[in-house]
Amino acid sequence: MYTGLKHFHSYVAYLALLLLAIAVLHAILSLVQKRPFTATSRKFTLFGLIAAHVQMLFGLFLYFVSPLGFSNMGKQAMGDSLQRLFVLEHPLMMLIGIVLITIGYSKAKRATEDARKFKLIAWCYGIGLLLILARVPWAVWP
Ligand code: HEM
Ligand code: HEM
Repeated sequence: MYTGLKHFHSYVAYLALLLLAIAVLHAILSLVQKRPFTATSRKFTLFGLIAAHVQMLFGLFLYFVSPLGFSNMGKQAMGDSLQRLFVLEHPLMMLIGIVLITIGYSKAKRATEDARKFKLIAWCYGIGLLLILARVPWAVWP
């Protein structure tokens, strides 16, 4: 169970980072080139959101199954930078990033102007992705 979840979380991480990066680049390029918000734009935006949500849901499961997750919470883990990353910084920062991405998706869906949709996606997905990248455990992954 633990090993399976850990592998899944590790593989979906590639997909989530890639799809979020594509959504951000597409929004920025479309904004610069003043392109309309097409069905493809909607798909890029949605696929980034779905990958982030799947990663979040299984990350939450993993947090309560992994020996490096919630069960390791304590004073000793706080003193070690890699343990603190898994116990606190990684889950918290990922959740903040994904909440921001979800707010961007939701607001962009409701916006009526195409440029406004792209701006919301570029900013919310862009900052969300930067927050996520800042707390990926680069010391042990890929
Ligand atoms: C902890 C689990 C999850 C939470 C708390 C969550 C929360 C949310 C929230 C708040 C929205 C925004 C709705 C809006 O304003 O448009 C949303 C949208 C969405 N989520 Fe999740 N989600 C979770 C898991 C998942 C999973 C596992 C999937 C896919 C398999 C998923 C797929 C989607 C999709 C497709 C939308 C967009 C719906 C639309 O077009 O409005 N979510 N989710
Ligand atoms: C887009 C969001 C996320 C990305 C890109 C991501 C990425 C990763 C990566 C690359 C690893 C290392 C996997 C390995 O060692 O093979 C990892 C581990 C972990 N992640 Fe996430 N993660 C995300 C969200 C979350 C969330 C929301 C939680 C919990 C609330 C979470 C909890 C964990 C835990 C507990 C581990 C350590 C697992 C272990 O080695 O035992 N992650 N994550």
